[in-house]
Amino acid sequence: MIKYIGSKRALLPVIVDAVRGAAPEGGTVLDLFSGTSRVGHALKRAGYRVIANDHNAYAATLARCYVQADAEDVLDDARRLVAELDALPGRAGWFTHTFCEKSRYLQPFNGERVDAVREAIAQMGLAPELESVLLVSLMEAADRVDSTTGLQMAYLKRWSARSFNRLEMRVPDVLPRAAGGKGAAHALDACEAAAAFEADVTYIDPPYNQHSYLGNYHVWESLVRWDRPGVYGVACKRADVRERRSDFNSRPRFAAALRRALGALRSRAVVVSFSDEGFLSRAEMEAMLGELWGGRAAVSVVECDYKRYVGAQIGIYNPRGEKVGTVGRLRNTEFVYVARRQPRQPEPVAGCRVNPAPDDQNRSAVSMAAMSTGTSSVAIRQT
Ligand SMILES: C[S@@+](CC[C@H](N)C(=O)[O-])C[C@H]1O[C@@H](n2cnc3c(N)ncnc32)[C@H](O)[C@@H]1O
Repeated sequence: MIKYIGSKRALLPVIVDAVRGAAPEGGTVLDLFSGTSRVGHALKRAGYRVIANDHNAYAATLARCYVQADAEDVLDDARRLVAELDALPGRAGWFTHTFCEKSRYLQPFNGERVDAVREAIAQMGLAPELESVLLVSLMEAADRVDSTTGLQMAYLKRWSARSFNRLEMRVPDVLPRAAGGKGAAHALDACEAAAAFEADVTYIDPPYNQHSYLGNYHVWESLVRWDRPGVYGVACKRADVRERRSDFNSRPRFAAALRRALGALRSRAVVVSFSDEGFLSRAEMEAMLGELWGGRAAVSVVECDYKRYVGAQIGIYNPRGEKVGTVGRLRNTEFVYVARRQPRQPEPVAGCRVNPAPDDQNRSAVSMAAMSTGTSSVAIRQT
């Protein structure tokens, strides 16, 4: 999968376990901010029907490949076409000129292959799911030979070691259809998606700072859209990066946007992952989740120690490549919040005992620990 800031690779077991604790086996999970679709992929593998959503086209393409497409429908064709595309000779075009000559994200010999493969995919006129699998194959191939720290707001001054490798197309790990049913991929604003889709659990992983994902991954957006947009600045960002904004990237607007999304949800449980570097403190997030379902929410938290993204590990450099600052800290804490709608308690009747609702029984160990203490802290340390 592509390098992606905020990707939940290390947190996957905690998130899957939290979903297991809140959803019936083979139930439906809505992933409102799907990004790489790592989480959706893991949930599909665990048998859930996943509805993935992300407002960027490259992320919706990843979701169509990893969540919506099923191996039994696309893999035979994908294997044949990936081999054909991988054998194409390079041919310089818009991508090479923009991202390998005007800027330096890929070496020109690899950029020429991106141009040739992307143009061939455009000419094939494929069904959307198969096309997404090929686009993801190309995106991931380009990511493996890029010359960045994992963000496309800049590229390295000197070519990275991996950029000298030949771009190699591989078949993505498309899964068979989940027992819970066929998944789906959407590219809506999170608030619209929250209102549009019913699910047993909604997973929420919003951005946590002011840097837009479109600006951070504009090369993938242009590669997927293939609309050859006007670009600006040294980083050659798409012109529409300036207009396509998200309220979730704005400190003053974040809380209201999250409250809107939560208010629109059509599910009985919510799992949220959010870092301690984000726009809301733990207390604020717990209070907001506690307001769900008319205040009938039981909220618990799992706390995980996490390594910060590679840029933070390397330090702060000016455009001449000189180190001009250090980063305050190299680790952060990710909180995984679980909010569940509490069943309405029947009025107590003298002499009767109230048993827990059936769906409160048989929950997994981490989730039950989290549920029962309300502030369970599972020490997970990634090195
Ligand atoms: C922290 S990342 C999600 C990472 C993902 N869970 C993963 O593991 O790869 C946040 C995502 O939210 C998306 N996003 C930001 N604002 C959005 C909005 N208003 N509606 C839908 N998606 C949005 C971004 O494109 C980004 O992919």
